[in-house]
Amino acid sequence: MVDEKLASELNAKFEGKSPQEILKYFLEIFRGKIALSSSLSFEDQAITDMMLKIDKSARIFTLDTGRLFPETYSLIDRTNMKYGINIEIFFPDYNLVQQMVQEEGINLFYNSLESRHRCCHVRKLEPLARAFKGLDVWVCGLRRGQSVTRTNMNTVEWDAKNGLMKLNPIIGWSEDDVKNYINYNGVPYNKLHDKGFPSIGCQPCTRAVKQGEDIRAGRWWWENPEHRECGLHLKN
Ligand code: ADX
Ligand code: SF4
Repeated sequence: MVDEKLASELNAKFEGKSPQEILKYFLEIFRGKIALSSSLSFEDQAITDMMLKIDKSARIFTLDTGRLFPETYSLIDRTNMKYGINIEIFFPDYNLVQQMVQEEGINLFYNSLESRHRCCHVRKLEPLARAFKGLDVWVCGLRRGQSVTRTNMNTVEWDAKNGLMKLNPIIGWSEDDVKNYINYNGVPYNKLHDKGFPSIGCQPCTRAVKQGEDIRAGRWWWENPEHRECGLHLKN
């Protein structure tokens, strides 16, 4: 049984430890009940490489919102081929997508914050809830340096909403730490990262950033910085 107390104990035990050390422990103790949710970002690709080097059968899933970049789809294939794996793909419920698009249009996210949240809920959060079935530990590629909304996050957190532990093995890593890992280990990555996209989500909600701009400035760029989360990582 996992709970808030265990999450806090494990956080104290592993805060500041290397990602590999953290992943080795969790993959062993929570075998069969742990999975990485990957957006195929630099961060998630580094964790994918680490996890598979520890356990070839480690579970990795992605949420295909139906609005991803072609480069991201191609990376799913390249990653599967390189590691001989089959990343699990969760799709949105077509009834919910159909109803939403009929009511608010295909590009509803530009209309209001409410409509954008509805789209993220239908295309990401509802499928994520299905992906969580049977899991005790949810591994993510979050880093404190990514955003004002992430500076207080810990290595191990209790996700009360979903009743599981959230593991952020590279929470303390810098962007350079991630890039160095990717380059040193020859990990396949999204070609968009070389074209000014430091953070990549859905195509209509992501654009390239200029030199010196915040790394998440291209995500939901028309909204205020404190709103730039899809809801996956909001506590309440
Ligand atoms: S988001 O909330 O703004 O979309 P971001 O792109 O920074 O999140 O990714 C942070 C972490 O959320 C990723 O490392 C990954 O664990 C998870 N995540 C985000 N998007 C997806 C996705 N489409 N499928 C699976 N996991 C995702
Ligand atoms: Fe919809 Fe944009 Fe959220 Fe993707 S990021 S689910 S397209 S609102």
